[in-house]
Amino acid sequence: MLTEMSPLLKAASAGGYAIGSFSVANMEMVLGVIKALEETKSPGIIQIAQVRLNYSPLELIGPLMVAAAKNSSVPVAVHFDHGKTKEKIIQALETGFTSVMFDGSHLPFEENSKVTAEINRIAKSYNADCEGEIGCVGGSEDGSENIAINCTSPEQALEFYNNTQVDALAVAIGNAHGNYKQAPKLRFDILEKTASLVPVPLVLHGGTGILPDDFRKCAKLGIRKINIATATFDSVEQSVRSAYENKKIGGYYNLQTAEVEGAYRNAMKHIEIFGCAGKA
Ligand code: 13P
Repeated sequence: MLTEMSPLLKAASAGGYAIGSFSVANMEMVLGVIKALEETKSPGIIQIAQVRLNYSPLELIGPLMVAAAKNSSVPVAVHFDHGKTKEKIIQALETGFTSVMFDGSHLPFEENSKVTAEINRIAKSYNADCEGEIGCVGGSEDGSENIAINCTSPEQALEFYNNTQVDALAVAIGNAHGNYKQAPKLRFDILEKTASLVPVPLVLHGGTGILPDDFRKCAKLGIRKINIATATFDSVEQSVRSAYENKKIGGYYNLQTAEVEGAYRNAMKHIEIFGCAGKA
């Protein structure tokens, strides 16, 4: 069933686990992620970032995501990730997304606060949730920019929350988008301090390549939403590649099955680590 993001994150806070927010780019990925959520009886989030819309137009992928969430037997929120423009964020809300992120992390603090607060007001008029970001997660969602990591200041995070009243807050604690060259050393001290000050669930971007024990520690210290993108794309590609190598592809539908399987396996792995299985 289609749901807002907030109740999922609130239940995760009460239960001490995290919700997987899986990026999708086509129907096969949507099918694979939803299959994993249903099989494990997990609540979950499917999302797409604005930079990905060049490949997967919002007019097409958006209704598909919303329909998949509505049809699922477990609660699924549909989230617009790294929204950059008001126009696209409103389009996502019109499509039925139940949550949107405004990523103003590269803007000066005042500007980030002002625009995020405005987007939050717009989201609320659609009964949707809003995520903001404070500090700078490294890399960029599509790998096109090498943005340096700028760790969140816990005090500034509180001020940002007070200014914006967002429902969830993405923090930068040494995490980055894309594949890490080496496993990141996350700043759990910053996470712990931020979680003690900010009264809303915290979000970890750049989930690909973070070690299972670090994920668990993040969930223990206040991360309630974990974004996974590159790992899904890599898993789908790998699944297709090995199906070809093992001569399992004799036609289009075998190819499609291999794609769904890749997204499914990746989601299964993360759901188990995040502790959200059985929480639907
Ligand atoms: P990864 O591509 O590193 O998993 O990051 C995903 C993400 O944070 C999307 O917002």
